[in-house]
Amino acid sequence: MKKSEKDKLIFFNEKAYEILRNYLLKKVDSIKNTFILVDDKTYQYCLPVLLSHVDSLKESNLIRIKSGEKEKNIHTCIQICKILENFKANRKSLILNLGGGVVTDIGGFVASIFKRGICFVNIPTSLLGMVDASIGYKTGINLDSIKNEIGSFYIPEFLIIDPNFLKTLSNQEIISGMSEVFKHGLIADKDFWINLNNIKNIIDITDNQWDHLICRSILIKQKIVDQDPKEKGLRKILNFGHTIGHALESYFMNTDKVILHGIAVVIGMICESWISYKINGLSISDYENIKFTLSKFYSIQNKILNLSDSEIEKILVIMEYDKKNEKNKIQFSLLKEIGKCSYNCQVPHSLIRECFFELKNIDFS
Ligand SMILES: NC(=O)c1ccc[n+]([C@@H]2O[C@H](COP(=O)([O-])OP(=O)(O)OC[C@H]3O[C@@H](n4cnc5c(N)ncnc54)[C@H](O)[C@@H]3O)[C@@H](O)[C@H]2O)c1
Ligand SMILES: [Zn+2]
Repeated sequence: MKKSEKDKLIFFNEKAYEILRNYLLKKVDSIKNTFILVDDKTYQYCLPVLLSHVDSLKESNLIRIKSGEKEKNIHTCIQICKILENFKANRKSLILNLGGGVVTDIGGFVASIFKRGICFVNIPTSLLGMVDASIGYKTGINLDSIKNEIGSFYIPEFLIIDPNFLKTLSNQEIISGMSEVFKHGLIADKDFWINLNNIKNIIDITDNQWDHLICRSILIKQKIVDQDPKEKGLRKILNFGHTIGHALESYFMNTDKVILHGIAVVIGMICESWISYKINGLSISDYENIKFTLSKFYSIQNKILNLSDSEIEKILVIMEYDKKNEKNKIQFSLLKEIGKCSYNCQVPHSLIRECFFELKNIDFS
């Protein structure tokens, strides 16, 4: 790790733009040596906002990629490296990643490999990007259909968090990204979870509420990452809901049913809470509370919930190949109570099968 964990890294709203303006004045030799990475949507919706705050960036270089997870591959990275090379980028160049998790993952990875490492700043523009993808020093790209198989741990100069970017993000993306906010409450902060229960409707969250929710959510993740940056132990609790969630995501990727990451994680969190109740000491009332709250905010189609026996078996096989497994055992992070989570828990296959049956009894309408 390049920086001391104590260095302040994350700045919010106007203060963040002030930090960026000063950084560009003092630390960058020429604005022509600064590169902004955008995708098609953040080019349209977010770049004008950034330029309105930091006028000098109008003279910087723009690198634009297509929107979407499909772009998160080595070919895109090579294209970006070639553009950097053509513009004579050097070890003093700076990349500003303006986008969701796809842009911050790609831009962070390119920054970590180009000329063995150049500086970058993350400006996440999606909810998932703000509360999750841009936090925690992981960068990565996919290897064919294997998610985040190639990557690095690499620390940005700093992060700019501006919840105003959410105004142009689709409701679907907001609702999906919110699953990680719920997860942060469940694994590490009961009071925060209780606050989240008071929200009426995710799409009606006000600007002030967003400031608070995003800030608190980031602090929870950052505190966990700081204690275990390389995911040797504690950081694994951030995978709560993701063992089953990722398997569902991969399974549905090859069918005609599309499932967003956040929705898969919500189903994963309910299933893994039920398993936590069965074998990890989570009380029945905590389980009921989690089930009630998540099913209040998320409506999930029956065709996703009503999995056939053969579909469940295929999902189990996917789980067996999860790269986070150890000694050929499927590893879970399970709740002990709301706000406390264990990691490296092994779960019998029979219980995983049973949790999918439990799902069918939940009313997500
Ligand atoms: N590095 C990590 O630790 C980490 C953690 C979690 C997730 N991730 C990665 O993050 C990615 C998912 O991130 P995501 O959900 O942000 O996806 P994304 O970057 O694809 O963004 C979702 C969509 O919203 C658009 N968009 C982004 N900001 C917008 C805005 N303000 N207004 C309008 N449209 C906007 C994007 O163009 C895209 O179409 C995945 O690849 C995942 O693997 C990484
Ligand atoms: Zn996630």
